[in-house]
Amino acid sequence: MEHQTPSSEKPPKGGWITSVIDAILSYYAYLVSQPFRSGLVYFLAGVVPSLVIGWFVFPAVLYSKQVQPIQFNHVIHSNPDIGIEGATENERCLFCHGFRKDGTFEGIPKLERCIVCHDNPEATLGEEPEEEKFTREYVATGKEVPWLVYSRQPDCVYFSHTSHVKMAKEECRTCHGDHGYTETLPPFQKNRVSGYSRDIWGYNIAGYSPNPWDSMKMDVCAECHTKTGHDEDNACFVCHK
Ligand code: HEC
Ligand code: HEC
Ligand code: HEC
Ligand code: HEC
Ligand code: HEC
Repeated sequence: MEHQTPSSEKPPKGGWITSVIDAILSYYAYLVSQPFRSGLVYFLAGVVPSLVIGWFVFPAVLYSKQVQPIQFNHVIHSNPDIGIEGATENERCLFCHGFRKDGTFEGIPKLERCIVCHDNPEATLGEEPEEEKFTREYVATGKEVPWLVYSRQPDCVYFSHTSHVKMAKEECRTCHGDHGYTETLPPFQKNRVSGYSRDIWGYNIAGYSPNPWDSMKMDVCAECHTKTGHDEDNACFVCHK
């Protein structure tokens, strides 16, 4: 017989947050109960919990997490061996993330691009369970996959891939890092207060982001415009129409 854990015995979700808070509180109580040694004890009793809360508890509470509907694998799909069109790697990216006839950017490809290869709702091309799920839930039903967009800017921001990829000849990696070379997708994280995707302000809570793709805040955009001699694009109305 298979052993099953009744759901009531499973550790509650977010249990670690509670244990961290418990640990802080008991340590705090211990410090304060000590006979007065020096102001340092009281200083640490204040500072240590604030640091723990600021660095670990606050970010865990501030962001909600959602998993992508399908685990899409970029490494498999950029490989010329699967029959994807394009002589260079960049052309293979553009097979899925190309420009329409009217010049606008396609963004994440629609199902019609996938069924060039995933054309049989009854059979899969490989053995992966994710492909089976994709075929059953989307190819067979014709439903679009509701992808969550990590780099999505707030509605008030105007951004065009035509200007940046075609005119400015910037590489995908400069703004998106290694996303095009990944095998699994990280959870999508949304800031509960601003509604922004976490990729906009970045993962480092001290704001330290040495690479342009670590975050895509207003000043990251403006910095590159200055560096590339396009200060004229740093007027408010250029990015906020
Ligand atoms: C077979 C089609 C296909 C090919 C080829 C492809 N992609 Fe993608 N790409 C997708 C799909 C589907 C998604 C949505 C899922 C995800 O986030 O990975 C995506 C998402 C992305 C995103 C994330 C956008 C966001 O902010 O959420 C980036 C960046 C990206 N691709 C870059 C690339 C690069 C660079 C290449 C070439 C090395 C490439 N892609 C090749 C299908 C493709
Ligand atoms: C050029 C052909 C081609 C195109 C276009 C294509 N695929 Fe695939 N895909 C494949 C092949 C071949 C495999 C099987 C690879 C293997 O398992 O060895 C695969 C595997 C997969 C898998 C399982 C991989 C894994 O690691 O879990 C998923 C999910 C998937 N494709 C989704 C998509 C989606 C979504 C699109 C459209 C954005 C798409 N594919 C477009 C050829 C393609
Ligand atoms: C100069 C920076 C920059 C470059 C270069 C760049 N992107 Fe983006 N990309 C962005 C920004 C910013 C967004 C969010 C746009 C928005 O939300 O209005 C985005 C969004 C996307 C999306 C999601 C679009 C959607 O909403 O469906 C995909 C896919 C993507 N980029 C792929 C690529 C690929 C592939 C390349 C290279 C051919 C590339 N990007 C080059 C900055 C860039
Ligand atoms: C890696 C460098 C780089 C980054 C990062 C970058 N830009 Fe640009 N941007 C350029 C260059 C270069 C031009 C000039 C293109 C031209 O006119 O040839 C430009 C032009 C523009 C224009 C004017 C052209 C048009 O499409 O109307 C807007 C708007 C713009 N950028 C918005 C943004 C926003 C918003 C972001 C951040 C989310 C951003 N850019 C990030 C390099 C960058
Ligand atoms: C180069 C492009 C660019 C320029 C120029 C620019 N912004 Fe922004 N702005 C952005 C981006 C990207 C965001 C979203 C990310 C962030 O909050 O940093 C933003 C966000 C904002 C927000 C917050 C909106 C919200 O809903 O959260 C305000 C307010 C704003 N900008 C005002 C301004 C003003 C005022 C100027 C002129 C002094 C200006 N911006 C110039 C790109 C730009």
